[in-house]
Amino acid sequence: VLRGPADVLAVNPVIPVVVIDDARHAVPLARALLRGGIRIIEITLRTSVALSAIERVASEVPEMVIGAGTVITPEQAVAVQRAGARFIVTPGTTPRLLDFVLDSGVPLLAGASTVTEMMQLAEKGLNAMKFFPAEVCGGRAYLSAVAGPFPELRFCPTGGISAANAADYLALANVGCVGGSWLTPKATILAEDWDKIEHFARQAALLNR
Ligand code: 3PG
Repeated sequence: VLRGPADVLAVNPVIPVVVIDDARHAVPLARALLRGGIRIIEITLRTSVALSAIERVASEVPEMVIGAGTVITPEQAVAVQRAGARFIVTPGTTPRLLDFVLDSGVPLLAGASTVTEMMQLAEKGLNAMKFFPAEVCGGRAYLSAVAGPFPELRFCPTGGISAANAADYLALANVGCVGGSWLTPKATILAEDWDKIEHFARQAALLNR
């Protein structure tokens, strides 16, 4: 059971950020991640089938902790919860979206990229958050710098993370996990190469933090 964003960060070292173009891919993809040892997934609301994909994973792969990403309006927050999402990820936050999702009670992994945004989330009781887009916003050096004034904050850096730099991020004391799309490349999904995704998942699940 996820009580808040800190629990979302604790599930695995990596949260796969997934774009699904064909809802039929959702279940075999989720099962491949599970076989590789990854039991959390963020399906982004960037395609017309995203809600259907979330629904399928929620009902057919109950061991998978299913979340919805790229949620930017309260209406989308309602829809993804109806579909079965157990947590919500937002790229950034407006006061309206933040209050709405917090009132709904679903764990929120809210995006922040500035110190002021981080303080605003902390003020709402969110001490674990997404740092997005991580690489272009200063990456590891930025996260190290904010650890000084805000040692209690924990981050899921996302955006530009890959197999090449994930371990370096995870070595930081204020990084709980990282997010990224490198486990589930579009071409691999379209080719239905679930073994390859299982392989990427296995490597990601072995990362230390
Ligand atoms: C995104 O917005 O697509 C996620 O943050 C993942 O970013 P990535 O594709 O750089 O991993």
